[in-house]
Amino acid sequence: MRLILLGPPGAGKGTQAQRIVETYGIPQLSTGDMLRAAVVQQTEVGKRAKAVMDAGKLVSDEIVNAIVSERIDQPDCAEGFILDGFPRTLIQADATESILSAKGMDLSVVIELRVNDDVLVDRVAGRYTCANCGAGYHDTNLKPKVEGVCDKCGSTQFKRRADDNPETVRTRLQSYYKDTSPLIGYYYAKGKLKTVDGMADIDKVTADIKAILSGL
Ligand code: AP5
Repeated sequence: MRLILLGPPGAGKGTQAQRIVETYGIPQLSTGDMLRAAVVQQTEVGKRAKAVMDAGKLVSDEIVNAIVSERIDQPDCAEGFILDGFPRTLIQADATESILSAKGMDLSVVIELRVNDDVLVDRVAGRYTCANCGAGYHDTNLKPKVEGVCDKCGSTQFKRRADDNPETVRTRLQSYYKDTSPLIGYYYAKGKLKTVDGMADIDKVTADIKAILSGL
């Protein structure tokens, strides 16, 4: 199963990807997470990406295409993977096709999470993750069962992303509409697109995605 989760910042791509990982045992390939790791490790890619990400703009196609291609070569991707936040431009979409066909692979489905703009800023600004295991939470929509304690690993340390402020989120949204939303038509034309109502509650979105995946 090789799928793409497509949607604007805060649509729920990361939240749903974590749930698909738990159910299907395939890895989540998040270009945002890979780039943030490169920033922390201060690699060459991280140094080039940091200012671009902090500004809410897109890192170059050349960089992200290379890191995804390399990641898909890892053994844990043999049975499938979830692309979260990639592709994000038509150039990246064409590269995805080339990368997969060079490895004798094919894309199963592209799931678009459709969410109204007005809730996105609030979702992103209220988001935080466990600093230990990366489990995602939200100030009001998805709290840990015990306040201040991660449900998954029991850690009491949490963190927020540097680009999760309202101003940067608006830049990220502009970039989504300009560069990424054309992919909806691109994948529709290829017969790969399925759309899910990302405004529904988190469990309902998961159920709708699983219904699509079980029909593949
Ligand atoms: P990235 O990390 O990919 O960020 P993003 O696409 O902006 O997406 P987010 O992670 O903000 O949102 P999400 O859809 O995962 O939402 P989540 O599930 O967390 O990219 C960051 C940056 O890296 C980019 O700006 C760019 O600079 C660079 N980059 C990355 N990939 C790149 C690429 N391919 N090319 C170039 N540059 C790239 O949900 C958000 C919150 O809402 C959570 O708190 C969650 O609990 C809550 N929530 C989720 N679903 C629901 C629901 N149904 N109802 C209520 N609340 C919900």
